[in-house]
Amino acid sequence: MSENRRFLLVRRPQGEPVENDFRIETSPVPAPPLGGIVIRNRFVSLDPAQRGWMDDAESYMPPIALGDPVRATTVGVVHASDNPDFAVGQWVMGLNALEDYSVAMPGGFTMAIDVDAVPSPSNYLSALGAVGLTAYFGLVEVAKPQPGETLLVSGAAGAVGSAVGQIGKIMGCRVVGIAGGEEKCRRLIEDYGFDAAVDYKGKDHEALVAAIAEAAPDGANMVFENVGGAVMEAEVFNLAMHARIVLCGLIAEYNSEEKIGIRNLWQILARRGVLHGFLIADYADRFAEGGAQMAKWLSEGRLRADEDVQEGLENAYAAFMRLFSGANTGKLVLKIA
Ligand SMILES: NC(=O)c1ccc[n+]([C@@H]2O[C@H](COP(=O)([O-])OP(=O)(O)OC[C@H]3O[C@@H](n4cnc5c(N)ncnc54)[C@H](OP(=O)(O)O)[C@@H]3O)[C@@H](O)[C@H]2O)c1
Repeated sequence: MSENRRFLLVRRPQGEPVENDFRIETSPVPAPPLGGIVIRNRFVSLDPAQRGWMDDAESYMPPIALGDPVRATTVGVVHASDNPDFAVGQWVMGLNALEDYSVAMPGGFTMAIDVDAVPSPSNYLSALGAVGLTAYFGLVEVAKPQPGETLLVSGAAGAVGSAVGQIGKIMGCRVVGIAGGEEKCRRLIEDYGFDAAVDYKGKDHEALVAAIAEAAPDGANMVFENVGGAVMEAEVFNLAMHARIVLCGLIAEYNSEEKIGIRNLWQILARRGVLHGFLIADYADRFAEGGAQMAKWLSEGRLRADEDVQEGLENAYAAFMRLFSGANTGKLVLKIA
C-alpha cells in the first residue's frame, strides 16, 4: 500500500458521535524521522475512552486536536526504521492513531511484542493489553478481594467487566454481574462463570435495586464500576459495610451532554464505603507482571477473553459505535490490514 488512510476527528461530537464528526483522509506513507520508526498498523483498539478524548474537556490526557487522527492503541509491524532497537518486520504495540501507518519515536509508548506467544496479535489489545491489565490491577490491587466476599461488576459482559468477574472467581469471590439483555446475562453465567447476573435493561430504579438485592442478598463488598448513571445509583443501595468501589469507567455518561451524577452518595457514607478512582496508566511500571499473570491464567484455561474483531478502516465509525449500542461481544478491535 502506497497511501496512508487516516481517520480524522473534524468536529467535536455533541452527544452521540455522528459520521460527519469524522473524515478519512489519504496522504503519502510517511518516512521515519531521525531515530524514529514507521509502523504499519494491523489491529486498532476501539475503546470507550476515545469518546472522552474527542471532547474539549479537562482529563488525564489532552483532547484529540480537530484535524488529527483519532488517538488509539495499535498493534502492527515496523515498516521502516531509523532506530537500531526496532528492526523492520518487528511486531510492536503503542499509543498511535486510527491510521494505516503511524510514526513513533523512541521514549514513547512503543514496545516490541512476541506474537508467536499468542493465538492472535490482537490479544495485545485485549487480555494482554490495557483492558486485561485494568481488570487485573483494578481488582487485585485496588479492591483487594478476599475469599467469600461478594463482587458486583457493571458492564459485566464487556471486555473489562468479563475479565474482572473471572478474576474475582479465581480469587474465591461470589461474583454478580450487571449487563444489558438476556443473552449477555446468559453469557455471564455460562461463558464466564459468574454466580448471578442482573439485566439492567427495562428496569426502573426500584426494580433494579431489588434485582441486585436478590442476586447479592448480603450486599456487595466490592463494586467494579464501568457504567455509572442509573446502574451505579442502584448499586449503592446494595453495599455491604465498608464496601470498596473501584471507579473504572462511566460509559453511561460519555455521550450525554449533561453529566448525570450520582444522587445518593449518602448511601456510601452510611455504609462507610470507599470510592477509589482508577486509571491503568498509573500501573505502567508493573505491566510485565500483570501481563504475565493474565497470560498464565489464559494458558491454564482459567480465563476466557473474547474479542469482537471488526474489519476495515473505512468502517471505523460504525465499529466504534458498537461500544455504545452494546453490540460488541468482547474486546472491540478493528482489523485494518
Ligand atoms: N480507568 C481505566 O484505566 C480504564 C481502562 C479501560 C477501560 N475503562 C472503562 O471500562 C469500561 C468498559 O470498557 P470496555 O473497553 O471493557 O468496553 P466494553 O464493556 O467491552 O463495551 C462497552 C459496553 O458498555 C455498555 N454500555 C454502553 N452504553 C451504556 C449505557 N448507556 N448504560 C449502560 N451500559 C452501557 C454496553 O454493554 P451492555 O450491552 O451491557 O449495556 C457495551 O457493550 C468503560 O467505562 C471504559 O471507559 C477504564
